[in-house]
Amino acid sequence: MKLIAPSILSSDFGRLAEEIGTVEAAGADLIHIDVMDGHYVPNLTFGPPVIAAIRKVTRLPFDVHLMIENPERWIDAYADAGSDFITVHVEAEPHLHRAVQKIRKRGVKAGLSLNPSTPLGTVGEILGDIDLLMIMSVNPGFGGQSFIETSLSKIARARRMIDEQSPGILLEVDGGVKIDNIEAIGRAGVDIFVAGSAIFGSGDYGATIAKMRKLIGAKSAV
Ligand code: DX5
Ligand code: ZN
Repeated sequence: MKLIAPSILSSDFGRLAEEIGTVEAAGADLIHIDVMDGHYVPNLTFGPPVIAAIRKVTRLPFDVHLMIENPERWIDAYADAGSDFITVHVEAEPHLHRAVQKIRKRGVKAGLSLNPSTPLGTVGEILGDIDLLMIMSVNPGFGGQSFIETSLSKIARARRMIDEQSPGILLEVDGGVKIDNIEAIGRAGVDIFVAGSAIFGSGDYGATIAKMRKLIGAKSAV
């Protein structure tokens, strides 16, 4: 599977609904929503009320990336707001198994995210209980950072681990994905490509997404 998930972190928040409509028409597969709490990461974005509000403006699935401390406490609120995927950071949640069960119990797909310095092995015991594995290719907190090159081999190893242990888990990459590196990232075995600044910073979202699709060998969504 090859899906493009524009991150609205780099969109114009003053015209959020319009930006989502434009990126949907431009061929996005999912909307990536970066939730930051000012504690786990040094930035603050939005929470459940904003997600519930934008739920009404698009049919695209919501890929909600929680960069918050102890996310388990907030899972019901993000499920109620209309999340299709909820991804939590393994570094931010001491009770990962419980958090993942709680997400799935709500009928939401459960994802785990790993920071660049977090070894893949930390998810080995829980691979059979998740739907998505996210490899952070920048340090979380901000859009527009450069892709950390060592992430490529980590992605390739994650692909092998998934194929050997739990085929069916979606592999997602988040951070620094651009037109000039997406082909190599795709070759490493990614299913979902998050891209914020590369799409919202481009003049023509449709042309950028179409170029990305071509480079990763994905079919057109529109
Ligand atoms: C970073 C976020 C990313 C970010 C990606 O903490 O998780 O989703 O929006 O932005 P770009 O594509 O600009 O690196
Ligand atoms: Zn993200």
